[in-house]
Amino acid sequence: MTKHFDEAYRILAANDRGGYTVPTDRLYPFQWNWDSAFVAMGFATFDIDRAYRELERLTEGQWADGMIPHIVFHQPSDTYFPGPDVWRTSHTIPTSGITQPPVFGMALRAVHEAAEKAGTENAKARTLALFQAGLKWHRWWYKARDPDGTGLVALLHPWESGSDNSPAWDIALAGVPTTTDTAVVRKDTGHVDAAMRPRDEDYRRFIHLVDTYAVCGWDPVKQWEKTPFKVAEVQTTGILLKAGEDLEHIAKSLGLEAEAQELANYNDLTHKALLAQWRPELSRFVSRDLISGEDIEAPTQAGFIPLLGLDLGGGMVAAAVAEMKLWSNGMKVAFPTTKPFVESWEPKRYWRGPSWAIINWLLIDGLNRNGQPDMAEALRVSTIDAIEAEGFAEYFDPTTGEGCGGLGFSWTAAAYLWLSRKERT
Ligand code: SER
Repeated sequence: MTKHFDEAYRILAANDRGGYTVPTDRLYPFQWNWDSAFVAMGFATFDIDRAYRELERLTEGQWADGMIPHIVFHQPSDTYFPGPDVWRTSHTIPTSGITQPPVFGMALRAVHEAAEKAGTENAKARTLALFQAGLKWHRWWYKARDPDGTGLVALLHPWESGSDNSPAWDIALAGVPTTTDTAVVRKDTGHVDAAMRPRDEDYRRFIHLVDTYAVCGWDPVKQWEKTPFKVAEVQTTGILLKAGEDLEHIAKSLGLEAEAQELANYNDLTHKALLAQWRPELSRFVSRDLISGEDIEAPTQAGFIPLLGLDLGGGMVAAAVAEMKLWSNGMKVAFPTTKPFVESWEPKRYWRGPSWAIINWLLIDGLNRNGQPDMAEALRVSTIDAIEAEGFAEYFDPTTGEGCGGLGFSWTAAAYLWLSRKERT
């Protein structure tokens, strides 16, 4: 274990483009939102200044309304589609027009605590500025993506989940037309095997949504009215809750009482809303398609991510853990992002089945929080073993352990450093 530290550092250095880290060369040549949050936690294990910098550079892309976009196009690159010309947004530094899971608050707490421990200079001021950006973003989530005040936040694009082509979207996405105003000129399949990527039809729907929102001028109110894709989502909401708790914790430690109370109110609302998404007959949480009003029952990892922000009662934890064990049973590398052997499961195709180190990281935290250290430890060791056997791949085929997708991947390096760190509790 932990013998690949130098390689992890080397990957983070190689993917550094000047204070921010690209997920991997060519396939993803810009700064991605949740990637950078995980990467900042990886940096926090050995370079606190650089960890802060990663988050600071991400907030350069923050919009006036508080949204932190899913991609910040700091420098041009022609190896990725869709680029800034497709997004047609108006931020000074070009950005995409959608967002991504708000891991930022979790990362900020990790960086802040590492800085406090190390007695880093200027830590408080840097944390405070990033805290304000994080709070603004959480306010945006509740205003723009939960206008009815339900406590669950909605996604308007599958890319916002970070789990782009998950079977969770199959039914909802079928309602999105495949027509586009923009020519779909994929670059991703020039970098990795098309069998590991979303299908062309998925891309046409992804771009249909981008075209629709560009016509709305990226106004959240208009988008909410016009969208054919609107999902109140439990993975994102679970992350929002945990990040909200972490921001609340930071607010308290900085003596910001009004902000702490505001966050506590959000967290309380979301806590209740998320609990109501538990389905005992499925032993997991479910998202809701807000266009059809139906539960989304596709069996994906998202159903277990809420453990991250909730303290479940014994019966619920036991049921969730039993279900997770069932999915992991016989897999070389847990945790499969789709329940193995169901019809939609494809163990090599991106978010339709593979195991991802950063998803394992979130599940490990959720399991530990809910009194399941043995399962958490088994998942931690399995993640580290997979990386040591196959390298820092984007993700892993759970049946064979094969590293798939992009290689030399920043968040896999960050997960390795974080999950192997000595001071973990
Ligand atoms: N993950 C998406 C892609 O593959 C966008 O965030 O391009």
